[in-house]
Amino acid sequence: MRTTKKNIQLLIISLYLPYIFINTSFAVQEKTPIPPIDTEASCITVACHDNMGKKKYTHGVGVNGKHCIKCHKVVQKGDHSFNLPALAVETCSQCHSGQYIAPTDIEGTPPVIMEGADVFEEGNETVFHKPFVEGKCTECHDAHESDYYLHLKGNYPGLFYATFSPETYTLCYKCHKDFENVLTEPRTLDATGFRNGNLNLHFRHVNQKKGRTCKACHHPHGSENPKLIRDNFMFGARRLAVNFKKTDTGGGCAPSCHMPLKYDRYEPTDIMMLTTARPGRDATDSELRESRQLDLKKLKEKKKKLKEEAARKESLEQENKE
Ligand code: HEC
Ligand code: HEC
Ligand code: HEC
Ligand code: HEC
Ligand code: HEC
Repeated sequence: MRTTKKNIQLLIISLYLPYIFINTSFAVQEKTPIPPIDTEASCITVACHDNMGKKKYTHGVGVNGKHCIKCHKVVQKGDHSFNLPALAVETCSQCHSGQYIAPTDIEGTPPVIMEGADVFEEGNETVFHKPFVEGKCTECHDAHESDYYLHLKGNYPGLFYATFSPETYTLCYKCHKDFENVLTEPRTLDATGFRNGNLNLHFRHVNQKKGRTCKACHHPHGSENPKLIRDNFMFGARRLAVNFKKTDTGGGCAPSCHMPLKYDRYEPTDIMMLTTARPGRDATDSELRESRQLDLKKLKEKKKKLKEEAARKESLEQENKE
C-alpha cells in the first residue's frame, strides 16, 4: 500500500519536475485602483473576488480568502500579480498525496488521491487515465468551486445508480465527445469496445432509469486493470469485486451483480440473462466480419501513431542531450 502511494508520487514528481519552474503568470483584472497586497488580509472582500465561494461545491482552500497564496505565489512583493502554476498537479500534490497530513489551519483532512497501480500492461498502454498521469487535475476539478460533485467541471454522479439523461455525464463528454452517441445507441458495431456482437453494453448498463454510473466500473484516475476498470466497488456498505478479464476481442467479469458473463465483439457469446428488451436486431456474420476488419485497421493506425510519438520524443531527448 505504502509503496504504491510512494510510486505514484515519484511518478508524478519525476514526470513533472522539468515543468515546475515553467510558470505562467497572470494579473488579476480588477476595478482600479488595485489594492496593495496585505498578506494578512483575505482576498475575498466586497472590493475583491467577492463572487467566490458561492457555488454548491467548494474546495475549502480554494475559496478561503486567506489561503489563496497556497497555490498563487506573489510574483513581486506589493504588486497584485500572482503566479499560476503551468501544471495543476504541482499545487495539488502539496496536499493530496499519500502521506500528507492537513495543516492545522485548514479545515478538514485532505482525502488522498487514489493510488494508481504500479502494474503496467505490456505495450504502450498504462493503467492511468491520460489526463491524470499528465497532471492535469484542473481539466476535471475546479481548483476553487463548481456546481458539481467534488467541484468537478461537469456533471458526474457520485452514486452507483443514476437516471440517464443527456446531461448526466457532461464531465466525460468534455473529452470523449463520441460518448454521447455511445450512450444513446442500443446497437453499434464501432462506437465502443464494450459490446457483444453489436449489442452495446455501455448503453445497456448506463442508459436506464436506474442506470449504473461510470463509477460502478471505472475509476477516472487509474486502476490496476486495463481500461481503468475498477478492481472492486462499493455497493452501499459492501465492497464487491469486479473480476474483470480482458481478451483481445472482448472481456468478461464476475461481479456480484450478475452471474459471470463474457462479451465478444465478433463472435458474440450467448448472454441468456434478459433484464430488459433488447431493441434492434443482431448483426449478421458478414457485418461482424467487416467490423473486425475495421477495428484491426484502427488498431494498426493507433499503434503506428504511438510508435511515431515515441520516436519523436526520443529524438527530442537526444537533441537535448547534445
Ligand atoms: C493547501 C492544501 C490543499 C491544496 C493545495 C489542494 N487541496 Fe484539495 N483539499 C484540501 C482539503 C483540506 C480538502 C478537504 C476539505 C475540503 O473539501 O475543503 C480538500 C478536498 C478536495 C477535494 C474534494 C474531496 C472530497 O472527498 O470531498 C478535491 C476533489 C480536491 N481537494 C482536489 C484538489 C485539486 C485538484 C487541487 C489542485 C488544484 C487541490 N485539491 C489542492 C486541501 C488542499
Ligand atoms: C488549490 C489551489 C488554488 C487555490 C487555493 C486558489 N486557486 Fe485560484 N487558481 C488555481 C488554478 C490551478 C487556477 C488556473 C485555472 C484552472 O486551471 O482551472 C486558478 C486560477 C485563478 C484565477 C484566474 C481566473 C480563473 O478562474 O481561471 C483567479 C483570479 C484566481 N485563481 C483567484 C484565486 C483566489 C482569489 C483564491 C483564494 C480565494 C484562489 N484563487 C485560490 C488554483 C488555486
Ligand atoms: C478525468 C477527470 C479527472 C482528473 C484528470 C482528475 N480527477 Fe480527481 N476525481 C475525478 C472524479 C470523477 C472523481 C470521483 C471518483 C469517484 O467518486 O469514483 C475524483 C475524485 C478525486 C478526489 C476525491 C478522493 C477520491 O480518491 O475519490 C480527489 C482528492 C481528487 N480527485 C484529486 C485529484 C487530483 C489531485 C488530480 C490530479 C493529479 C485529479 N484528481 C485528476 C476526476 C478526475
Ligand atoms: C480532460 C480530458 C478527459 C476527460 C474529462 C475524460 N477523459 Fe477519459 N481519456 C482521456 C484521454 C486523452 C484518454 C486516452 C485516449 C487514448 O489513448 O486513445 C482517455 C481514455 C479513457 C478510457 C480508456 C482507457 C484505456 O486504457 O484505454 C476510459 C475508460 C476513460 N477515458 C473514461 C473516462 C471517464 C469515465 C470520464 C469521465 C469521468 C473521462 N474518461 C473523462 C481524456 C479524458
Ligand atoms: C458495467 C460496467 C461499465 C460501465 C457502467 C461503464 N463502462 Fe466504460 N467500459 C467498460 C468496459 C468493460 C470497457 C472495456 C471494453 C473493451 O475494450 O473490451 C469500457 C471501456 C470504456 C472506454 C474506452 C473506449 C470504449 O468505449 O471501448 C471509455 C472511454 C469508457 N468505457 C467510458 C465510460 C463512461 C464515460 C461511462 C459512464 C457514462 C462508462 N464507461 C460506464 C465497462 C463499463
